[in-house]
Amino acid sequence: MEPLRFCVLWWGAILVLLGAADAYILKIRRLCKFCDLRATSCAGKGSCKVECDITAICPDQQDVCVSIWRKQDDNVTFDTVCHNPAQTLYGLVLEGYNNSKCEMKERKGMGSEFFICSCSEDECNEHIFFNSSKDSPVVAVILVSLVPLLVMAVFVITSFYCYRVYRQRQASPRRKKGPPLDFSDGHAIMIDDEGSDISSTLANNLNHNTELLPIDLDVQVGKGRFAEVYKAKLKQGAAVGRDQGFETVAVKIFSYEEYASWKSEKEVFSDADLRHDNVLHFLTAEERKAQRQYWLITAYHPRGNLQEYLIHHVVSWHDLWVLGGSLARGVAHLHSDHTTCGHYKVPIAHRDIKSSNILVKSDLTCCLCDFGLALRLDNSLSVDELANSGQVGTARYMAPEVLESRINLENIESFKQADVYSMALVLWEVISRCNAIGEVKEYEPPFGNLREHPCVESMKDSVIRDRGRPEIPNSWINHTGIQMVCASIEECWDHDPEARLTAQCVAERFYDMEYLDKLSDGSDSEEKLPEDISVVDEKSGSTEVLPPTGW
Ligand code: ADE
Repeated sequence: MEPLRFCVLWWGAILVLLGAADAYILKIRRLCKFCDLRATSCAGKGSCKVECDITAICPDQQDVCVSIWRKQDDNVTFDTVCHNPAQTLYGLVLEGYNNSKCEMKERKGMGSEFFICSCSEDECNEHIFFNSSKDSPVVAVILVSLVPLLVMAVFVITSFYCYRVYRQRQASPRRKKGPPLDFSDGHAIMIDDEGSDISSTLANNLNHNTELLPIDLDVQVGKGRFAEVYKAKLKQGAAVGRDQGFETVAVKIFSYEEYASWKSEKEVFSDADLRHDNVLHFLTAEERKAQRQYWLITAYHPRGNLQEYLIHHVVSWHDLWVLGGSLARGVAHLHSDHTTCGHYKVPIAHRDIKSSNILVKSDLTCCLCDFGLALRLDNSLSVDELANSGQVGTARYMAPEVLESRINLENIESFKQADVYSMALVLWEVISRCNAIGEVKEYEPPFGNLREHPCVESMKDSVIRDRGRPEIPNSWINHTGIQMVCASIEECWDHDPEARLTAQCVAERFYDMEYLDKLSDGSDSEEKLPEDISVVDEKSGSTEVLPPTGW
């Protein structure tokens, strides 16, 4: 390169750099409105624009923009200046000068009404804002008087919340055994069901986690209209770095075609208020894309369903009292419009109560399962849902008004009354296998004279035309307790739905029979194990009946 051209380029570069530095220096010098003292019409409320048309480059690099509003007698003025915040102004230290907006603060003891603001953006002292307490002292007064109220409200709400959490913890089953639970991966973790206890972060919730629970399916334990039920092992996440512990669950598997059934059962189950000792404990719902299946994961109860239990066992009066009372409590909870904590819940009608839809827990209490036909009795009920709700369930257990499709759809109580009728048939089944009635025959379902799956028409003949009900032989009522239960049963299967007892009333009657239970010898149920009958689950050790807990 020629020396002359090099020199020109060199000096050019130096000049550009100097120019940039100059621009930089100029830039950090602030531009502020600078009119010193001027009269103003600004009333000292809300926001004002100062009446100053002089914008000055502040002399000092540290300077910020300042506005002062003063009122002495009727004389109102604005003072707009540049000022270095390191120094006092009228004996005052500037506050909030790093703000981009000029927000006025009142300063007392200045001999007049005196407001000052400072800020650090070009011409930011042109628009000034008075703080709200000056705007409206009334607002400040209201706010101050509201504070104790707010504090009290927060206190009351927090106490109520804590109380509810406490009550829920007390009401929910407590974990008795098994390895410490780990919720860190957000998966449902549960313990085995010898005590039918389950703890789960996902209880009565949907698994919004896209990760599926690690589960190994075991044997099939049930088959319904729309799905099959499997016993399964729930593996605790290996990620938590502990030995893989296995817990037992039940998995109800729906094919992709049965999406609607899965969805409706999932919707009923996912209501946290459904949770109750006598309602099957729901863990989570999953879509298993790879298998084109939908799953509902619940507690597993090795004793299986009540029908199987009654086929294989003769029960004592005490067992009957525990089974019947817990069944009535489960149905009452379903039907109730409030939880045990007393807050509102949506009442639910099961609509398919039968002994095969009731599981027997290890302590011989019952829990309701299979909510595939259940109906939430709330305002969300669509016209379609109501219109299709006339005749659902299992014909054998259908109330007369359901058999005739004459159920009063206008009144949600009608659905509960139909459930109570079905519950009465189940209570009859339990009594028919109770040794307190004398000679106990082989298990027979209600209306056992009819073929295996009677159709609606033959049920109508028995239940409506002949006004038939399962027989209550005289020998049954020699036992005071059985006599009382039979009296309730007869009220529950009354032809007139309105005349039927509520499930809550039946539960209370069972409760009132506790003294009878105390009088009884409490003899355990006898197990009947002919060669050709296999026990529901070997692991359950169902020959031994655990000490009953009942209520
Ligand atoms: N059959 C249907 N559901 C069941 C469950 N949760 N436990 C045991 N057996 C069942």
